[in-house]
Amino acid sequence: MSAIDIQNLSRDYGGGKGIFDVSISVDKGEVFGFLGPNGSGKTTTIRHLMGFIKPKVGSCQINRMDCWKNRDEIQKSLGYIPGEISFFDDMTGKEFLKFISEYRSLKRDNRMSEMIERFELDPKDKIKKMSKGMKQKLGIVSAFMHDPDILILDEPTSGLDPLMQNRFIELMAEEKEKGKTIFLSSHMFEEVERTCDRIGIIRNGKLVTVDSVETLRKRHMRSYTVHLDTPEEAEAFAKDFDGICTDNSVTVTAKRGLEAIFMDYYGGDDHA
Ligand SMILES: Nc1ncnc2c1ncn2[C@@H]1O[C@H](COP(=O)(O)OP(=O)(O)O)[C@@H](O)[C@H]1O
Ligand SMILES: [Mg+2]
Repeated sequence: MSAIDIQNLSRDYGGGKGIFDVSISVDKGEVFGFLGPNGSGKTTTIRHLMGFIKPKVGSCQINRMDCWKNRDEIQKSLGYIPGEISFFDDMTGKEFLKFISEYRSLKRDNRMSEMIERFELDPKDKIKKMSKGMKQKLGIVSAFMHDPDILILDEPTSGLDPLMQNRFIELMAEEKEKGKTIFLSSHMFEEVERTCDRIGIIRNGKLVTVDSVETLRKRHMRSYTVHLDTPEEAEAFAKDFDGICTDNSVTVTAKRGLEAIFMDYYGGDDHA
């Protein structure tokens, strides 16, 4: 059963900008990576899912609820990290978290303090005085503290140092283990490769491919055939490089990382 459905969603900002005929379905309990470089349409898609933008063409649903018609409930119940955190600048982090807790009618024994400790958030400053990383931590705490079943995360690790990025990836793994549905946008290959079941690659507002990490890797594996002088040499070579030996020849398959695959889709001509 699907938790997130996007059907033929388009938003034309003119000049080739926007999103065009995006369709994605994410199962309950699945971790979906939405991978694309800056300006490819990730945030625009996500803002439709959160009910901040009314679809002009196409539609989207979360748990079968229309994202626009049910935006109040969606915004209240989901865990969401916005792409650019620029909210409630005059509040302190603490005031903001209290405000969000009240908005969500949270009980006292929620995960707030656990999350604050985990990400070493210092919530006492005004948000406008916080560094990008500290704001991002505040976003993480507010998205996870009510233990939501569905998480929509728009480049959640941007501005975090590598230690905190790792801590975030660990948190994602735990949430996945608990059966949470996660929609994670990122421009970082490694992040999605480590955490996601399936990946959709978006380019210039168009979904270029949607596949499992495994399938993506397999489809883009390269093999090489090496010719050696004798069958004995070929056999030894095949053993060392895990290849397949026929007479004097050995075929080896290179395992390529997701970054190389991504560059196949994205590298070179950007105007196609
Ligand atoms: N409200 C808007 N009006 C006009 N252009 C927009 C608007 N929002 C986004 N865009 C443009 O649409 C493209 C996709 O933006 P965005 O969804 O923010 O990409 P991403 O999140 O992948 O970086 C960009 O070229 C951006 O400048
Ligand atoms: Mg964005």
